[in-house]
Amino acid sequence: MPILSPSILASDFSRLGEHCREAISAGAEWLHIDVMDGHFVPNITIGPLIVRALKPLANETGAVLDVHLMIENPDDYIEAFADAGADIITVHVEACTHLHRTIQAIRATGARPGVTLNPATSLSTLEEILPEVDLVLIMSVNPGFGGQSYIPASTDKIRRLRSMLDAIGSSAHLEVDGGVKASNVAEVTGAGADVIIAGSAVFGGSESVEANVKAIMNAW
Ligand code: DX5
Ligand code: ZN
Repeated sequence: MPILSPSILASDFSRLGEHCREAISAGAEWLHIDVMDGHFVPNITIGPLIVRALKPLANETGAVLDVHLMIENPDDYIEAFADAGADIITVHVEACTHLHRTIQAIRATGARPGVTLNPATSLSTLEEILPEVDLVLIMSVNPGFGGQSYIPASTDKIRRLRSMLDAIGSSAHLEVDGGVKASNVAEVTGAGADVIIAGSAVFGGSESVEANVKAIMNAW
């Protein structure tokens, strides 16, 4: 069964805890936390403070805090996010000059390391690092904002990454981020993704968070 990781970016921040609790009780197992610095991407969002604030809820429910760093110089902040309670820390290949060192630094904190690629970045950039990571995240939109449309070419990229992981016997998670909703989630899981991020499809619209989570989980 795939795992749903709702992106809190689309939630009502004045009711963040409530929204997360509703998503988890409806079946979401992870919480996706989008960290943006206004440099690597044009938007500014969340820091370690919010990760720390969600940690008691994560401890209580067993939810995994899945932190996606869309920032320059991620090495400077790994410890702060790990200290705050991040279970997974994912960095962009485009933001890391010494990616291997960064991945080792994440693992040394006790968090699980993940790596991610922008839509225009080739899977070939992963070849050397694949055996070292616990998660690979395919961006199916250009990072920076929630609510964008899924880029159709992502499906073939997911399929090719699934083959690369299988070829080396990796059990790393294959996670997909951007524009995923009930109407296209089966395409994404069918191509080989096992962790689905959804922001606006979970926290947006007029239906309840619970109904949205169930709609996605019924569709995959
Ligand atoms: C984009 C973020 C995504 C985004 C997903 O930069 O990394 O996690 O919030 O939101 P939706 O599901 O609305 O595309
Ligand atoms: Zn994300």
